[in-house]
Amino acid sequence: MTAAIAGHSALDVAPARRLDGSLTLPGDKSISHRALMLALLAQGESTIQGAGDGADVRSTAGIAAALGAKLDRTPRADGNVDYRIRSPGAAALRAPQATLDCGNSGTSLRLFAGILAGQPVQAVLDGDDSLRRRPMARIIEPLRAMGARVEAARDGRPPVIVAGRRRLTAIDWSTPVPSAQVKSAILLAGLRAAGTTRVREAVATRDHTERMLRARGVGVRMTTGEEDGTVVELDGPALPRPFDERLPGDISAAAFWLVGGAIHPEADVTLRDMGVNPTRRAVIDLLARMGASIEETRGVSDDAAGEDEAGEPMADLRVRSSKLLSIELSPKDTAAAIDEIPVLCLAATQARGRSVIRGAGELRNKESDRIAGIVAGLSALGARIAVDRDEIVVAGPTPLRGAVVDSLGDHRLALTFAIAALVAEGTTTILGAESVAVSYPSFLADLERIRS
Ligand code: S3P
Repeated sequence: MTAAIAGHSALDVAPARRLDGSLTLPGDKSISHRALMLALLAQGESTIQGAGDGADVRSTAGIAAALGAKLDRTPRADGNVDYRIRSPGAAALRAPQATLDCGNSGTSLRLFAGILAGQPVQAVLDGDDSLRRRPMARIIEPLRAMGARVEAARDGRPPVIVAGRRRLTAIDWSTPVPSAQVKSAILLAGLRAAGTTRVREAVATRDHTERMLRARGVGVRMTTGEEDGTVVELDGPALPRPFDERLPGDISAAAFWLVGGAIHPEADVTLRDMGVNPTRRAVIDLLARMGASIEETRGVSDDAAGEDEAGEPMADLRVRSSKLLSIELSPKDTAAAIDEIPVLCLAATQARGRSVIRGAGELRNKESDRIAGIVAGLSALGARIAVDRDEIVVAGPTPLRGAVVDSLGDHRLALTFAIAALVAEGTTTILGAESVAVSYPSFLADLERIRS
């Protein structure tokens, strides 16, 4: 049930007696963005089956069209979308006629900045109030080092103006903050640079760009760097080929049901065709470490022989009610599950013992200040949660009771609070809950399908 409170749209969520059934979740958001972007760069026709249809991916589709790709969308019964994209390719992109609107999507803005840096066009990338607060110096610095002309309006925040060049210089860049968006922006710019572009990461981040470029014929080399970090490199100039790809379900959306299923006393939920890429699956392994009953079946293994054509392993995940124990996350664990930390905090409220999440500072730079938002929201629901600099500490288990909580317009906070509401006593009112449509537009329909 929805109602309006003080100018926000508010969502009331009552507790569930049971969670039972199986779901097909949104196509992976990170992969959906990249599949559309690489289809734009590839001359000819590409297809994408099962892309997510959240507002973020729609922003990327809109920008691909503004840069000259022709996109046909066919909605699927499961809420996802199939795309057929015909593009003139990277050598013939169209100069955009208007500001490129990235909406709420940091991935759209940062990766398109990398793509446009080596294009002889001028473009302005902008977004909503949340995106206008997010730091862009992390991409502007390496792109400038490659010879691109990139400016941010004020204080390193969007709008970002790219007055591209036809030719860039390859760089060897060590990323100070672990960020797949920064790595990807540099690699995409590297496609237009002569020589070897290299990115060194102290902590490995999601590797979809690397896998997807390889699947499209670009020779990307990945090696392990010092202390488990990675070194990724490609030789430019290079052009991705058109490609047909079926996308796995989004593990970051699955995380809500994995936690919901584990903490609800009457739950048995199966999530079909989920992406279980080693650089994304940390949330599964962390929950298993806490004692969650998660069964993984029908997986395509991640060895070279077992990979699907785009190199993304998939599996069905079945989660059942579990008794959880507390957990300590190292900064590396936190980086590996960065989008799932809010819902892992919820899991910790229902786990016996003191959980500590270290190295969480980067959460302040997401769609909202997620540390402030999760602490305020879960505290209002009765959790014992505190912050000490970049550490979040949760004492559990604590019974939750319904309250009014503010998602700060952040999809991952709204979804976390909706799952919390399923195990709370009484009704929870979530402010700004329309934000779920950023990554998971079918969430309410899925909730109705499996709750009783
Ligand atoms: C993403 C990378 C991560 C993640 C975001 C999606 C991507 O951001 O938080 O939701 O698709 O590359 P950072 O690269 O800023 O860590």
